[in-house]
Amino acid sequence: MSSKHFLTLFFFLLISCNTLTSSTLEKEDTFDFVRPIDRKLLGLNKKEKLSHFKLYWHDIVSGKNPTSVAIVPPSSKVNSTTFFGLVSMIDNPLTLGPELSSKLVGRAQGFYASASQEEIGFLMTMNFAFIEGKYNGSTITILGRNHARNKVREMPVVGGSGLFRFARGYAEATTHWIDAKAGDACVEYNVHVFHY
Ligand SMILES: *[C@@H]1O[C@H](CO)[C@@H](O)[C@H](O)[C@H]1NC(C)=O
Ligand SMILES: *[C@@H]1O[C@H](CO)[C@@H](O)[C@H](O)[C@H]1NC(C)=O
Repeated sequence: MSSKHFLTLFFFLLISCNTLTSSTLEKEDTFDFVRPIDRKLLGLNKKEKLSHFKLYWHDIVSGKNPTSVAIVPPSSKVNSTTFFGLVSMIDNPLTLGPELSSKLVGRAQGFYASASQEEIGFLMTMNFAFIEGKYNGSTITILGRNHARNKVREMPVVGGSGLFRFARGYAEATTHWIDAKAGDACVEYNVHVFHY
């Protein structure tokens, strides 16, 4: 066999081997309830976008219309000054500016729970549900650790819905002001998300 022929045969084998592997994989991934699909069908062939959202999150604990309500008291089993075990359910306004009267663009719905016995630290579990423009009805899901003493607290964006399907990213929270007596707070959220 000439070396030219040998090369041709070699490439032929290489290519058929590759096709064989990918078709075998597809077969293995296909069951009655699952099959691989073309990403174009979900519009995922577009380039992923990176967006920065700047919002103000209002934790209103006091007054007649609180948006943040303690639903589980701190545990009496541990001697903790960090409210360990406390769970608060929230439906907090998200506004464009730091004033509560500024434009409402969505709500932060979910709960936060005191998860540290040593410091004031919360587990945040919330959806940013937007009501503005094309984002109306879409959500960003944030789940992370929020240690109040840190100036900037970073929490992962673990997903989203609507325009934020397949979203990933991170949120940075910085306290804008806090009224220690009433318990109310306004927190600036800077959220960076990849989405389609
Ligand atoms: C809780 O801990 C503090 C010091 O951290 C202590 O002074 C206090 O007696 C403790 N209380 C109880 C009920 O154990
Ligand atoms: C957002 O969507 C809801 C339900 O589809 C609709 O009732 C509401 O008017 C919309 N809001 C804005 C600001 O477009």
